[in-house]
Amino acid sequence: MGVSPVSEFDTVLVVDFGAQYAQLIARRVRECHVYSEIVPSTMPVPEMLAKNPKAIILSGGPSSVYAEGAPAVPVGLFATGVPTFGICYGFQAMAQALGGIVDKTGAAEFGGTSLEVLGDGVLFAGLPAVQSVWMSHGDSVVGAPEGFAVTASTEATPVAAIENPARGLYGVQFHPEVLHSDHGQAVLQRFLDAAGCRPSWTMLNIVEEAVEAVRRQVGDGRAICALSGGVDSAVAAAIVQKAIGDRLTCVFVDHGLLRKGEAEQVERDFVAATGVKLRVVDASERFLKALAGVVDPEEKRKIIGREFIRVFEDEQRAIVADGPADFLVQGTLYPDVVESGGGTGTANIKSHHNVGGLPDDLRFQLVEPLRALFKDEVRRAGEQLGLPPAMVWRQPFPGPGLGIRIIGEVTAERLDVLREADAIAREELSRAGLDRDIWQCPVVLLADVRSVGVQGDGRTYGHPVVLRPVTSEDAMTADWARVPYDVLSRISTRITNEVREINRVVVDVTSKPPGTIEWE
Ligand code: XMP
Repeated sequence: MGVSPVSEFDTVLVVDFGAQYAQLIARRVRECHVYSEIVPSTMPVPEMLAKNPKAIILSGGPSSVYAEGAPAVPVGLFATGVPTFGICYGFQAMAQALGGIVDKTGAAEFGGTSLEVLGDGVLFAGLPAVQSVWMSHGDSVVGAPEGFAVTASTEATPVAAIENPARGLYGVQFHPEVLHSDHGQAVLQRFLDAAGCRPSWTMLNIVEEAVEAVRRQVGDGRAICALSGGVDSAVAAAIVQKAIGDRLTCVFVDHGLLRKGEAEQVERDFVAATGVKLRVVDASERFLKALAGVVDPEEKRKIIGREFIRVFEDEQRAIVADGPADFLVQGTLYPDVVESGGGTGTANIKSHHNVGGLPDDLRFQLVEPLRALFKDEVRRAGEQLGLPPAMVWRQPFPGPGLGIRIIGEVTAERLDVLREADAIAREELSRAGLDRDIWQCPVVLLADVRSVGVQGDGRTYGHPVVLRPVTSEDAMTADWARVPYDVLSRISTRITNEVREINRVVVDVTSKPPGTIEWE
């Protein structure tokens, strides 16, 4: 089973030579409205051909082509006639495989470099003769393979781009996929055009195709979907709802640990937008009781996960009492598929990123309509489906919710305090237009800390909250966001004025690593 949901989209295979480059290339291809799929460099060529690729891109990678065990171009690739574009390591591996010369010139290049375009090649047609590109390499191609024209150079790298349009083969030493390469996207677009890729990967088509695929998979069966309030489960549910209507039942377990307005977003706005059949379980009392006296973060996570499963299983039993429901909808995204080793076999149910995760012994067939999509595509699909913007653009929020943003025991009063402070921070960040610049901004209540303050005529003895605004690409690493002082000032003033229990607002200026994004 491949990841590709589709047959009528032209497919570009991105051959992964390691490091983080392949995903970015795949995203850039999709930004050109062409479907792309990442495959390992160990995949035999016949398997690649079975995917009917219109074009192939060889990604960058951390190796030197001379290193022992360096990944090689799949045997027979260049005999297939499929247009192929080598990037960085992929360029060197391609040049070497075709009889060119790759050498350690000692002239390593890292960072922004000026590229000079030579002649009138296909990849640079109509682009400036001198442009800034992003480089990151030690080895260099010093001799182009026979039949190839050298179409660009830099001071340190005389052979910075080559092409043989008659054979449909192209290569560049720089990284067209990074934004620091001024015309990188245009170069990529020229390759896709030369390969004859049609720009059919549009949101409308993507959603329609996903709906069709769900219809084919579920037939006249019934499905269940747990909604978390987040964008992934919401978009997945909306697609399945479009496909099978009220044979989908959604379950929303309100654990009482969501932020202000989020439960209403699910119960009211999402239902209004989609017409989904929804069972709401107000389980906040139950979660609070289970969390009473607990301060250890991992213990909190375990308890929240365990309670979630119990409530979900009760709901499942109730749903099945009306007739069998064999399918479980999951909002698995393409990066999860790639990172867990590709598109085959039965998917694991994510544990960390769902509320607690679901147990393995729930015997369901998984329906994963987002399995081929990147996060930004999921958000655009959500817009296409008419979901509430607040849901579509919601920043990442941990499954255990505010439970792990209260340092100390979780109580109903503390949740109320944190919810108010968090709502103010969110409102002011949105008002300042910072939503798309900030990856997420946890607000953390230091519930066991009190400090002295003065308000009006009296001393106060209140709690601090921590603002943790971060910028990030993928949450694996993060930097603290440089939020303008006046915005911080407004947040601080409003929180200390409007939330009686809080008398101090502090800002976390730690990057990740060493700090994590969340405090617990
Ligand atoms: P950390 O704190 O590890 O967070 O830097 C990385 C990303 O993961 C989110 N996160 C969680 N998500 N369950 C989740 O579903 C969890 O237990 C959990 N802990 C952290 C966090 O918000 C950030 O986006």
